[in-house]
Amino acid sequence: MAGEVLHGISIVHPGQVGDEYFMTKGHFHTVLETAEVYHCLKGEGYMVMETPEGEWAVAELRPGVVLYVLPRWAHRSVNTGAGDLVTLFAYPGHAGHDYGTIEQKGFRKLVVERDGRAAVVDNPRWSRN
Ligand SMILES: [Fe+2]
Repeated sequence: MAGEVLHGISIVHPGQVGDEYFMTKGHFHTVLETAEVYHCLKGEGYMVMETPEGEWAVAELRPGVVLYVLPRWAHRSVNTGAGDLVTLFAYPGHAGHDYGTIEQKGFRKLVVERDGRAAVVDNPRWSRN
């Protein structure tokens, strides 16, 4: 409902599938012009973000970091650490979630392990459609 601030705790366990770290599915908000705030409480990782227009950004998550995800930006958290990645999130009650777009197209960028470290690479499976 508009006027409310929905909030909760997100926990991403550590691990990898191939060279990709465990991550959330990622989503746009159904109402694109809505933002979200993440406060990293524990662990280490990254927030991968992009707009429908093709801009992208990757922001570090460490305990104490407060990240403001701008309106229009899809977001996915990636756990690159050895323990749980724990964040508190809050967003407008009318925002809604669009998981389908990312499920179909993927994110333009991936955070993967390269030589024992996290690296941002182009997603070879990213689809324009
Ligand atoms: Fe969100």
